[in-house]
Amino acid sequence: MTETRQKAWTLLRKHVTSEVLLKHSLAVEIAMRAYGEKFGGDVEYWGSVGLLHDVDFEKFPHDHPHHAREILSAEGYDDAFITNVESHSRVWEPERSQLQKTLLAVDEMTGFIIACALVRPDRSLDTLEVKSVMKKMKDKAFARAVNRDTLTAGAADMGVEFSEHVAFLIQALAVAVKHPDYQEVPLL
Ligand SMILES: [Fe+2]
Repeated sequence: MTETRQKAWTLLRKHVTSEVLLKHSLAVEIAMRAYGEKFGGDVEYWGSVGLLHDVDFEKFPHDHPHHAREILSAEGYDDAFITNVESHSRVWEPERSQLQKTLLAVDEMTGFIIACALVRPDRSLDTLEVKSVMKKMKDKAFARAVNRDTLTAGAADMGVEFSEHVAFLIQALAVAVKHPDYQEVPLL
């Protein structure tokens, strides 16, 4: 594990005890790393934004992400980094950067994909197909709290066709969950 990732992970563990939220943070990190590479960004940086994007959620669920700044600045994260985290607030005036659009596009989509994997007989991402995620998108009873329009709009804003986005995330998650860095808190 790199020093950058170790720092972010240690900080996250200090502020998040919920296993569900840790898993969510890890899934978003994996997606951000993968898209960071695809879009020519700094993979470690994109990953840290993903890993820490909900760092204040457990302690301030009703005022999230408005407490990220105090937590992250105390640890030496700069203004640009903190702004990237804050930008996934639904209410955000400035035009989002590619990184910021990507964060929104993967925030809920990763969890939806993992939920699709978990209802498979083998509970695995390895055999999950794009078409089965598409089917679940239309099944209103499945993961009903997840707004489908938010998922598709996120991909569109990022500039990736929706089924490509799904395929990309399935692949990124399936590979990463086998990596040693993701064994401490298994995603599935
Ligand atoms: Fe999130």
